[in-house]
Amino acid sequence: MSRFVSLPGLRCIRYEVALNGWKILKHTVNDFSLWRLIEYPWVTEQLKLKPGDTVLDLGTGTSSYPHMLAKEGVNVVVLELERDRVRWQQQKRLETARPGDGVVYPVVADATALPIRDGVGVRVSAVSSLEHIPDDHAVGREIGRVLADDGIAVITIPYTKSERTGFFKGIKPFKQVERNAFVQEGKSGSFFRFYNDEDIQETYIEPSRAEVTAWRGFGRKLLNGLYHETRRNRYWRRWVLKDWLLAKIAHPLEERFGTATEPLYVMFRLERTK
Ligand SMILES: C[S@@+](CC[C@H](N)C(=O)[O-])C[C@H]1O[C@@H](n2cnc3c(N)ncnc32)[C@H](O)[C@@H]1O
Repeated sequence: MSRFVSLPGLRCIRYEVALNGWKILKHTVNDFSLWRLIEYPWVTEQLKLKPGDTVLDLGTGTSSYPHMLAKEGVNVVVLELERDRVRWQQQKRLETARPGDGVVYPVVADATALPIRDGVGVRVSAVSSLEHIPDDHAVGREIGRVLADDGIAVITIPYTKSERTGFFKGIKPFKQVERNAFVQEGKSGSFFRFYNDEDIQETYIEPSRAEVTAWRGFGRKLLNGLYHETRRNRYWRRWVLKDWLLAKIAHPLEERFGTATEPLYVMFRLERTK
């Protein structure tokens, strides 16, 4: 048995139900879905956490991830640009904290200018958040600056080998604004970027002065091509147990036999060794 904290998919679902009620199984209130059921277990494993450790989570949004980690005894700095989302996190904490949980520290801040001293970030996570930040080079430099000498950062971001001209056809229109970068049409104007290998190298790997010690793709032909990128994705946010089965069965099969198709997302661990 691993001596590190783990968050298997089914436990994530159990925590989501405890945090947000049974309705979460049918319709998610945050970004919890198939993707997170792949990301949270992998990211947690790669962070090599022990109870009492502290994780700096960049761009937390209204994710339940910090609360899941707290339930495992891990402290989490929720660092998020939107004040309302940080308030949501504080409220969720007030409603669900139990004795023995780790501490959740809410911080309203910009990941491009972290209010954190050099070299104190022993564990840093960023789950599907950095692709929404236009000045990602600044974020990469900041991760490099705050990462401790024995630090680990685990990042998940959208991936492409070729140049993208569109994506998520079934969901909502996005307008291209630069190479592989898009802004959602309409009021919210959310920014979204895909990374190729060179982008990842220059934006995150080089500034972190760390080695990539784990790398994993996900969302290939089945989970992306036949599902996410089509109109079938109207079911995407429903029936989380179906997402769990997809994460548990389709995802490992794709990663074993379908690697000829490129992944929609990659997850990687940056590790500094003294
Ligand atoms: C897709 S959501 C987060 C997903 C979340 N990490 C999860 O596990 O479900 C992206 C978040 O990044 C936040 N964000 C965008 N720009 C940011 C910045 N410059 N600094 C910190 N957070 C930022 C957004 O407000 C949003 O809440």
